[in-house]
Amino acid sequence: MSECGENWVLIGFMGSGKSTVGRLCAEFSGRYFLDVDDLIESRQAQTVCQIFDTRGEARFREYEREAGMWISRCVRGSVIATGGGMAVNFDAVGKMGRVIYLQVPFETVMDRIGNTGARNRPLFNRNIDIAELYRQRKNRYEALCDLKIDASKDPRTVARTILEALGEHPAEASLKPV
Ligand code: S3P
Repeated sequence: MSECGENWVLIGFMGSGKSTVGRLCAEFSGRYFLDVDDLIESRQAQTVCQIFDTRGEARFREYEREAGMWISRCVRGSVIATGGGMAVNFDAVGKMGRVIYLQVPFETVMDRIGNTGARNRPLFNRNIDIAELYRQRKNRYEALCDLKIDASKDPRTVARTILEALGEHPAEASLKPV
């Protein structure tokens, strides 16, 4: 591991709070935050929805693996939010850093995503059995993670729990220079 420290990689189903909690972990620990979907969108100059519509899901998954390989090679000491499918799509998630699974019950996913969240999530607009997808992915997330966190609480509490579990103390960490 370099002197910058290892990445903290948040995995979990859509609506588990990876981006919100990830930003808070970054704030509390004095790290930078990267969101894999944002990286793909900026590199491809299209939103995730546009990529699914115009180039197809398989192509999106290639971009996701490409971003994962780049992070493994080039990024250290950061908090990374993955997309909900990345842990399934990219075998080497563990090479990106310490893998933290944000676990939420299926009912919470559905409550959080509601109608507005579904608009930005192409899988919700297709004929896919989301409950079945959740069930399949849950096993994969469990098998892959180094740390499992109950993410059904409010995001600040979840972020603090992660820092504590990783042995970082929010008040001190936020004073540390990067
Ligand atoms: C996906 C989740 C999305 C995004 C894409 C595919 C998935 O990210 O990467 O729509 O396969 O679960 P979020 O988990 O941030 O919604």
